[in-house]
Amino acid sequence: EKGGYEHFMAKEIMEQPKAVRDTISPRIKDGRIVLDNITLTADQLKTFRKIFIVACGSAYHVGMVAKYVLEKMTRIPVEVDVASEFRYREPIIDEKVLVLVISQSGETADTLAAMREAKRLGARTLSIVNVVGSSIANESDDVIYTWAGPEIAVATTKAYSTQLAVVYLLAIYMADLLGCLTAEEYAAYLTELQALPDKIEKILQNRENIQYLASQHFNAKDVFFIGRNLDYAMSLEGSLKLKEISYIHSDAYAAGELKHGTISLVEDGTLVIALATHQNLFDKMMSNVKEVKARGAVVLGMTTENNTQIEQVTDHVFYIPQTCDVMLPSLTVIPLQLFAYYVASMKGCDIDKPRNLAKSVTVE
Ligand code: M6R
Repeated sequence: EKGGYEHFMAKEIMEQPKAVRDTISPRIKDGRIVLDNITLTADQLKTFRKIFIVACGSAYHVGMVAKYVLEKMTRIPVEVDVASEFRYREPIIDEKVLVLVISQSGETADTLAAMREAKRLGARTLSIVNVVGSSIANESDDVIYTWAGPEIAVATTKAYSTQLAVVYLLAIYMADLLGCLTAEEYAAYLTELQALPDKIEKILQNRENIQYLASQHFNAKDVFFIGRNLDYAMSLEGSLKLKEISYIHSDAYAAGELKHGTISLVEDGTLVIALATHQNLFDKMMSNVKEVKARGAVVLGMTTENNTQIEQVTDHVFYIPQTCDVMLPSLTVIPLQLFAYYVASMKGCDIDKPRNLAKSVTVE
């Protein structure tokens, strides 16, 4: 059942190239994105003054990526909320709002309740769901399925990756309908999107490097993940994955925020994982790395293949392939999942069923 792997999580991590390909390929026909069964029209799309994204846990982290990506590509303002918070702040919602709901199971109680509230207030709803026929899929105005296949491990991996893939499909689709993309830009995004599965595969083939880093650090007491912009969203996901299955305390910070408080926690030997995959933020990230190094931190850096200068300031580096800025999260997440997995495995944790957690959270 586990396909020769020790845990479902390992199997599901390794299935990601296929899962992402299965999610993208059927939606691209003759160089165009075709979202079958979507009833949302271009005219309706043009009326939205705002997009709200609601989700929980890792799906919320996908929402954070989606906020950056959708705002950049469609210029529609986007707000992201944890579903359990959304309803209690009287969100300003009407029929000029699109509510994007993200959920692997399609049954998460808070997410479902948030979606029902959004509908009650008149919003149009679009969901990204993995389980066909689940409550969220059934009740939303439109649904785009992630074709990840069944995900068994409590810690999500392939569902997260396929949710990201759908976000990219949707962002390109919407940006095009809104007239925000030239034909060349549209084609270039599609090319990058279709190249993601092979790049994910390449990172997976390099997993021994991550396994080695995990063997050096599985005894860490605290781990800090830092990054800016999309890498901040990835820091949140990397940190959640690690604490969820390895029980190591970890937190994620926007790198620029460190000096507003958190850096007081950094001392000799503190492990910091610094994500610096974005060229335009690279120098700023290097300054932050120097700040924590000066306080004794051990720094594992992640960047793209061209940025070898990072080796001068970090203790170890993991390189990922290049892609366009908005799609880097699809690659950044893979080493973060592998790191959490190997650390938890070296600690002998119950990886597929971590303590106190359920795969689908059906209570509010
Ligand atoms: O089924 P959902 O996507 O709605 O679940 C949301 C969260 O419960 C889920 O992503 C959780 O955070 C994962 N265990 C994280 O790995």
